[in-house]
Amino acid sequence: MFTKTKVTVSAPGKIHLLGEHAVVFGRPALVATVNLRITVSISSSLHPKLDPKSLENEIRKVIEPIIKKALKLKKIPPYELAITSQLPIGTGLGSSAAMSAAYITALLSFLKVKWDLNLINELAFEAEKIFHGNPSGADNSTIVFGGLIWYRKEANDLKLIQQIPFSIPQKLAKNFVLINSGKPKQNTKDMVTMVRNLYDKKPGLVNRFLDYQEKLVKELLQAVKNADEEEIIRIIKEGEKNLEKIGVASKFAQRIIRKIEAIGGAAKICGAGASDGPTGVLLCYHPNPLVIQNIAQSSSLEYFKTNLGVEGLRKES
Ligand code: MEV
Repeated sequence: MFTKTKVTVSAPGKIHLLGEHAVVFGRPALVATVNLRITVSISSSLHPKLDPKSLENEIRKVIEPIIKKALKLKKIPPYELAITSQLPIGTGLGSSAAMSAAYITALLSFLKVKWDLNLINELAFEAEKIFHGNPSGADNSTIVFGGLIWYRKEANDLKLIQQIPFSIPQKLAKNFVLINSGKPKQNTKDMVTMVRNLYDKKPGLVNRFLDYQEKLVKELLQAVKNADEEEIIRIIKEGEKNLEKIGVASKFAQRIIRKIEAIGGAAKICGAGASDGPTGVLLCYHPNPLVIQNIAQSSSLEYFKTNLGVEGLRKES
C-alpha cells in the first residue's frame, strides 16, 4: 500500500552587514539572517508533476546529483517538490543558499537519512559552487546556523563560522530598512569573477579595499555590541564607499544611497551588487527609519522591515 509522507523545511535569507566580496578573498564578514523564509516541501508521489520550466525543476537538477553523490545512491524515489518564498529571488538576500539548504534537508529527511547542520552546510556549499562558481561559503553558513555570524575562510578546508553570542540591540535593529533596488542584470558569479579580474589587473587597489573592509568589519562588530549608532552610520557609509571603489555598486544604487546619506542615514549594497542598474537589496540605516521608507516610496521602490539575526534552518514538519 502507498503511504504518503510529507516533509517541510524552511530557511531564512541573509544580509551582509559588511564584508561581501572581501570574504571571497579570505577576509571576515559579518552576516545576519533575515526573517524572510523560503519553504520547501517534499511529498511522496507515484506520478509527480514536473514543469520543465519551473524553478523547482531548475533546482532539482542541481541538488539531486549532489545528494546521489554524497549518499552513493543510483536512484531517488519519486516525489513532489513545492517551493514558496518570502525572499525576493536573486537580490542579494541569499535565496539560492536558502533554497538549497532547505531542499537538501527536506530530501535527506524524506530519504530517512540522519543529518546534522554541518552536513547540510557542506552539501549546500556544493550547490552554491554550482550556482556561483567560487563562493566564500558565508551565505550558506549563515542561513544554516542562523543568528549573527562572523565568517572567515581561512583555507579551502578550514572555515571559521562563529555565531556571535549577542543579538543586534533593539535600539539599532528597529532602524534598519531594506530597499529592493531591483533584480541585478549580473549574477553573483559574474560579480565575483569581475572582482577577481580586477585583482589580477590592479592588485594594489583590491588589496587596499580588502585591508580597509577588514578593519571596518571588526569595528562594526564592536559598534553593534555597544549599540553605537554614530559608529554604525560611519561604518556603513565607509564600507559602501569602499565597495564603490571596486565597481560593485552601480551609479543607480549610489544615487539612492546618497539621498539617504544626505538626510543623516547610511546605506550600502548587500551581497554581490552590480556595476550597472539595480543592485538588489540595499541595507539602510537611519535613526528615524520612516524617512528611508519615504525615499523608497518616492522612488517607487519596494522596501521592508524585517528582524535580523533570526533562527536558521528549521524543520517545520
Ligand atoms: C554574495 O552574497 C556575497 C559575495 O561575497 C560572494 C560570496 O561570499 O560567495 C559577493
